[in-house]
Amino acid sequence: MIKTIFLIWFLIIFMAFTQAYFAESTLSGKDIFSKVKGPYGTCNTCHPGGSSAGRWDSEAKEISDDGDKKIPEIKGIGKKKSPEQLEKIIVLMRNKYKVPIQDDQMKMLIDYISNL
Ligand code: HEC
Repeated sequence: MIKTIFLIWFLIIFMAFTQAYFAESTLSGKDIFSKVKGPYGTCNTCHPGGSSAGRWDSEAKEISDDGDKKIPEIKGIGKKKSPEQLEKIIVLMRNKYKVPIQDDQMKMLIDYISNL
């Protein structure tokens, strides 16, 4: 009896783990772009669909018409920048705007924005 309960418990835990692992690794580039969220939002918050949400106010830390920084459009960026350059920019975005992109999500995200 105890054994059966233990076995079922073990199975549930095991399934929860594989699920979590699977969910993470099956995120597409598009999902990474629009779902991986930091305190100021996702890539898609500032670059919706590869366009621009306007200007960024780096003091107030919000999108605002009179922000000090223009948020660039990133459509067509794959034609202008190499994957290595894009990786550097994404690392910058991760540090500056705190979007928690994991190292193993990097390649898919680069592929995705290269084709915007
Ligand atoms: C809080 C707003 C914000 C978020 C979130 C954000 N960006 Fe940016 N992004 C900017 C701003 C502003 C710039 C202009 C450069 C700078 O701020 O250093 C920029 C620049 C870029 C550039 C360079 C464009 C060019 O023409 O050189 C790329 C590519 C880019 N972002 C992609 C991303 C990706 C991918 C993510 C998600 C990991 C992301 N951004 C998240 C605001 C944001």
